[in-house]
Amino acid sequence: MSFPKNFLWGGATAANQCEGAWNEDGKGDSICDHNRAGSRTANTHRTFDLEIDTDQYYYPSHTGIDSYHRYKEDIALFAEMGFKVYRMSIAWSRIFPNGDEETPNEAGLQFYDEVFDELAKYGIEPLVTISHFELPFHLGKTYDGFLDKRTISFYENYATTLFERYKDKVKYWLTFNEINFGTMDHGKRINGLFNREYTETEQYQALHNVFLASAKAVVAGHKINPDFKIGCMLAYITMYPKTCRPEDVLKTQQINEKFNFFCGDVQVKGQYPYFMKRYFEKNNIQVEITEEDKALLKAGTVDYYTFSYYMTTCITDDLEKRNDKTGGNLFGGVSNEYLETSDWGWQIDPIGLRYTLNQIYSRYEVPLMVVENGLGAFDEVEANGSINDDYRIDYFKQHIIEMEKAIDDGVDLIGYTPWGCIDLISAGTGEMSKRYGFIYVDRDDEGNGTLDRSRKKSFYWYKQVIESNGENL
Ligand code: BG6
Repeated sequence: MSFPKNFLWGGATAANQCEGAWNEDGKGDSICDHNRAGSRTANTHRTFDLEIDTDQYYYPSHTGIDSYHRYKEDIALFAEMGFKVYRMSIAWSRIFPNGDEETPNEAGLQFYDEVFDELAKYGIEPLVTISHFELPFHLGKTYDGFLDKRTISFYENYATTLFERYKDKVKYWLTFNEINFGTMDHGKRINGLFNREYTETEQYQALHNVFLASAKAVVAGHKINPDFKIGCMLAYITMYPKTCRPEDVLKTQQINEKFNFFCGDVQVKGQYPYFMKRYFEKNNIQVEITEEDKALLKAGTVDYYTFSYYMTTCITDDLEKRNDKTGGNLFGGVSNEYLETSDWGWQIDPIGLRYTLNQIYSRYEVPLMVVENGLGAFDEVEANGSINDDYRIDYFKQHIIEMEKAIDDGVDLIGYTPWGCIDLISAGTGEMSKRYGFIYVDRDDEGNGTLDRSRKKSFYWYKQVIESNGENL
């Protein structure tokens, strides 16, 4: 079996990693605008500053790759590759600069009108992430983000504003990017928890409020346009037991349930799974979940399930003591000797994608979309300007082959949007040198470069993949 005729081939980005123009046309600062870059080569981590100090420091999101001013050129390149869909996010603080205003910033709304019109010119369907780690900073500072119930209403107002405005231009929506990072201590900032230390109860309460906000958006969106397709989005990190020791297998099941299954269960099935209820009880985590909340979660289930897939990892029952931990975006298990890793230590596992698609589909049986996948790598520009990224082509080829096999297994996979289809700022490190794109952007980790775009070898290759609907790899 091959890819369905109307398969949605495309690419994905997020506003904070490419737009720049961080304080133009009325935009407020988002939490991402407070990140200074780290560096893998210098072994430094990203830094989060409560006060932005542009005199002294470089903040990569402030300029991004300047797509706020260059989106027409970028969209023309996506169209040249034949994109059917383009996944992008709306910068919340462009629409509501502080997050708690009642009326939106017209200039922000206008900007996205123009972006959607440009996409429509080429027949490219937008797929819009409403919140991609881009909480307005003010909401975190003043309300502790989603820990405060008022933030649910702010989000609802924001989402409803988008639905009303773009109801005839956008059909596919995602409520929150990688919502399951909210289950992890180091993922708490994305929910606006950065003013102090927070208890586990508070972190899960904030996540619960994010679930409610998502459900409210789904309900409101379907009322505004019943044709809307509103989905969830998870960071799916597939886990294998490191050995067949039953202890490792059991540990894998437990970690997998909490990280990979929990949030999907709430958003697709509309209820908390039994294992999380027990986890809360056993650990004295007291999340307030009312009867009204339960009804809302049931009413606000999503239409389809999307996820990012970059790697798999291995789990053991002595994870804490191990020194063979793998690299990963906020999550690290232990290494798998059968897999190779990327320049950033992420384990590359194409067959794992087929396994993952089947794992998710057998649990939910709703349409699936892989909305992030790709290889972050150092690229070299040759003297003649060409970029021969055969390693990236090979990565995609192997993953596409496995997606096709999953479709043949019976999985209802409707689209594929490789991450960072144009080079952009890394979310994990703030680096520019961690490149994912089919399109090269002349910019380095310190902010030097012309920002000019050029086509990599993978650009021509992906074009032929789309043209042949996945046949010509
Ligand atoms: C996902 C995010 O976690 O992974 C993206 O949704 C991110 O925003 C991507 O860019 C890749 O991670 P990184 O750290 O390589 O940018």
